[in-house]
Amino acid sequence: MANYSKTIMITGGAGFIGSHVVRLFVNQYPQYHIVNLDALTYAGNLANLDDVKNAPNYSFEKGDITDEARIKALFEQYKFDAVIHLAAESHVDRSIMDPLAFVRTNVMGTANLLHISRSFWKDNLEGKLFYHVSTDEVYGSLGAEGFFTEETPYDPRSPYSASKASSDHFVMAWYHTYDMPVILSNCSNNYGSNHFPEKLIPLMINNILHNKPLPVYGKGENVRDWLFVEDHARAIDTIFHKGKVGGKYNIGGFNEWKNIDIVHLLCNVMDKKLGRAPGESAKLITYVKDRPGHDLRYAIDATKLNKELGWKPSLQFEEGLEKTVDWYLAHQDWVKAVTSGDYQKYYNEQYIQR
Ligand code: NAD
Ligand code: DAU
Repeated sequence: MANYSKTIMITGGAGFIGSHVVRLFVNQYPQYHIVNLDALTYAGNLANLDDVKNAPNYSFEKGDITDEARIKALFEQYKFDAVIHLAAESHVDRSIMDPLAFVRTNVMGTANLLHISRSFWKDNLEGKLFYHVSTDEVYGSLGAEGFFTEETPYDPRSPYSASKASSDHFVMAWYHTYDMPVILSNCSNNYGSNHFPEKLIPLMINNILHNKPLPVYGKGENVRDWLFVEDHARAIDTIFHKGKVGGKYNIGGFNEWKNIDIVHLLCNVMDKKLGRAPGESAKLITYVKDRPGHDLRYAIDATKLNKELGWKPSLQFEEGLEKTVDWYLAHQDWVKAVTSGDYQKYYNEQYIQR
């Protein structure tokens, strides 16, 4: 085997953000061996990584982060120097349907990874790092004013955000109790290619294309702060290499949008691309029952990351959104593959029967 300077386990690398992180690390750091550990749940898709699957410094291992024996065996085999942990159940609406799945993966899975990492690293922590990728949702919901900073107290409201908040607490507990070298980042809403079409932007793109109703929760007034997924991957790269051990970094797009405005923007972009009359797609907008406990507004203050490590977003939202729409229109095979079978069952439960 080649002599790599580091062997890094990236968990959840077959998912949306994970696949962009794996691609960036495999291409940018040929001196690192990147091992993608993923259970390939409904959200995991190896087709997301077709372009790097034969790279000499890339390996894939199927496995569940809650499976102690499997993770131990992988640590024995690869002798990881670092873990970048993205594997999670990630969709708020699914967490409302099946909260315990989120406790199992996000809480127990993270604690299992921490426990096993420590058992292999504890005699020599030099050069080791456990990087935990988390969300701004741990901070709860903002009113019309203000931003989440790294000091904002945790106040999660959904089973998803509560499970992520819990996992963040476990990561910091391992730092304080065992001196485990950890870093934590909390990011705002991502968008871009390979985004599973249960989330707002890819779901709307798909429904506009197929002339299906566009289900806007409540009044569409909720605000999210959107970041292009490749910018998140770059932020993870920066923090992994330059962040302070024990540190916590907020990552955000400085880019707040009301849901209804995004849906209108997407309708306009797609009217043009599909040769529809202006305003035609917007006729599909349908206001539906609100998400229970729907957080009103998220907005990240990413000043620390910018000032200390020099990171900033690279793309304007309109440009990123157009790139995203183009990707979906050009990758209809990908969309068809992920929207068959189980997706239809989920869609019916979430949008038709309720
Ligand atoms: P995703 O749902 O697209 O992908 C999750 C991946 O984890 C999938 O490949 C899935 O197969 C894998 N996975 C799930 N359970 C697993 C298990 N038990 N063992 C091993 N692998 C498992 O999620 P995403 O949107 O790419 O999010 C990745 C991470 O980033 C998550 O931790 C999420 O909380 C966080 N995050 C996401 C966003 C966002 O906007 N999507 C924003 C901030 C933070
Ligand atoms: O803020 C970071 C979080 O962003 C991540 O931690 C989560 O993993 C990720 O899923 C995302 O959570 P949201 O709940 O904000 O994303 P979602 O795309 O599900 O919804 C965005 C907004 O759009 C939210 O206010 C709910 C609304 N919405 C969503 C869907 C799927 C609708 O109005 N209609 C819909 O059909």
